[in-house]
Amino acid sequence: MREHRQLRDCLGRFATGVTVMTCKPPGRAPNGITVNSFSSVSLDPPLVLWSIARDSRSTAAFLDASAFVVNILAEDQQALSVHFAQSERPDFDQIENLRESQVIEGQPVLPDCLAYLHCRTCVVHDGGDHHVLLGEVVEFELGRDTKPLVYYRGHYISLPE
Ligand SMILES: Cc1cc2nc3c(=O)[nH]c(=O)nc-3n(C[C@H](O)[C@H](O)[C@H](O)COP(=O)(O)O)c2cc1C
Repeated sequence: MREHRQLRDCLGRFATGVTVMTCKPPGRAPNGITVNSFSSVSLDPPLVLWSIARDSRSTAAFLDASAFVVNILAEDQQALSVHFAQSERPDFDQIENLRESQVIEGQPVLPDCLAYLHCRTCVVHDGGDHHVLLGEVVEFELGRDTKPLVYYRGHYISLPE
């Protein structure tokens, strides 16, 4: 196998949207992580998946919470993506208009996103140096009707008008 760098570059040619996964494990602080491995899986039953690095600061929180909210970011939310991609556990105090999921108690929901999926984790698969989380969509919401944040070849890009 060639270098990891080359594999990353190859995978980076797949343009993706950007999500922030949020959760709140029982009795602990909320957590969140920027993720572009998100994918839809099934409509019936409604299932989605994403992967998290085994050694991520957030892995224990998402496994303990057994639930997560998919916050799909809009083009003007790059700062949120950067905030939740930092190595320290991101601060939620500075996020205005944060709310809690009504369907999965206590799970944090970020403001002004394009769409939201409220999920319960149903299976955690081995994914090499990642865990693959399969979530059942318990509820979904549409948010703002505007352009998505797009990630391509290691950079945030804008879709043309
Ligand atoms: C656009 C983007 C997408 C990312 N997607 C993932 C992902 O799917 N899974 C993952 O574990 N980390 C992903 N990351 C990395 C995390 O957001 C975050 O930077 C990393 O988890 C922080 O380091 P730590 O958790 O190891 O402390 C992504 C980062 C960016 C900027």
